[in-house]
Amino acid sequence: MHSTKDIVAIPGDGIGPEVMRATQAVLKAAGAPLKWHVHHAGVTALSEGESGVLPQSTIDAIQEYKVALKGPCTTPVGKGFSSVNVQLRKALDLYAAVRPVRSLPGVKTRFENIDLVIIRENTEGLYSGVENVVTPGTVMSMKVATEAACKRISEWAFDYARKRDRKKVTVFHKANIMKLTDGLFIRESAKVAENYEDINYEEVIIDAGCMKMVQDPTQFDMLLLENLYGDVVSDLCAGLVGGLGVVPGANISLKEAVFEAVHGSAPDIAGKDLANPLALIMSAVMMLNYLADTEGLEIMREAAEKIKAAYNAALEAGEKTRDLGGELGTEAFTDALCRRIKAL
Ligand code: NAI
Repeated sequence: MHSTKDIVAIPGDGIGPEVMRATQAVLKAAGAPLKWHVHHAGVTALSEGESGVLPQSTIDAIQEYKVALKGPCTTPVGKGFSSVNVQLRKALDLYAAVRPVRSLPGVKTRFENIDLVIIRENTEGLYSGVENVVTPGTVMSMKVATEAACKRISEWAFDYARKRDRKKVTVFHKANIMKLTDGLFIRESAKVAENYEDINYEEVIIDAGCMKMVQDPTQFDMLLLENLYGDVVSDLCAGLVGGLGVVPGANISLKEAVFEAVHGSAPDIAGKDLANPLALIMSAVMMLNYLADTEGLEIMREAAEKIKAAYNAALEAGEKTRDLGGELGTEAFTDALCRRIKAL
């Protein structure tokens, strides 16, 4: 008998609850011994009677159970409350975002054999949204970089590279213009790189980097990016492998880990059975492997392998959601995955 692992589930907003339901069903079918503790964040927290978009009880639960699976949270554009995601990442110091971007069987895109890992600094830079009005008609946004944060994300990236046998880390930057902030980022990265002679290190100015990425993404192995660049380039890379429906992620601190897809709450398709749950399902696979690595729970790795085998086979057989050119809705695709897992 295996002991169950407590996991915080945060359904989030928009398509969040739909893809969370799907992911939990798939995890159950794979026999992952998980006990869910549901907590809310985002607009959903307000509709669930909480007094704010990021309740303290949600943060407390993640601190207690250490691992969370999170759906996306809506952030109003150009007005309203500041991003729940930014608040959560800061509150828990989830400084490293990891986003694997891989070609999938049965998902035809411009390029084949893409296998990239994006490491994004999650706590600093313009993405913090620290802005103020200087005088009426003049506003300002602060880009903060600290030596400590630049160093720790670089160390995290190179450690990851070594553990996963990756060959090259590329930093995309704009230090020709932002000489101080991006200058600090590349200086710290280059210093860390000196301690990893087995891993190649390169610096590419981000505008040219984006061009190179769409010309031939297979020339890159791991990307190391400051916060805002990481946000933008993640979606660009998602577009190279089939879209936001297939790119998972994890936000990791020294103590906790929050797994979530790269995509947002997709209000345009919410509640229509159109969402692809794969990105959250893949994030859950990352979570299972994290539990296996950090807590020696091999049963989690076995469940992860089953889920991967099932979605690879499903995609290859043309069982896909509409964003990937298929015909299945969220629920039918989830059922197909569960059937395949149980048949393994
Ligand atoms: P989005 O990722 O929600 O959607 C962009 C496009 O991709 C839409 O056309 C959407 O329908 C499609 N899409 C996204 N996920 C999909 C999936 N699983 N299956 C099929 N199609 C999918 O980005 P958008 O529209 O820029 O943002 C919407 C909201 O989400 C905003 O409030 C934004 O702040 C928030 N957001 C939250 C994130 C998080 O909680 N981690 C991350 C990104 C955005």
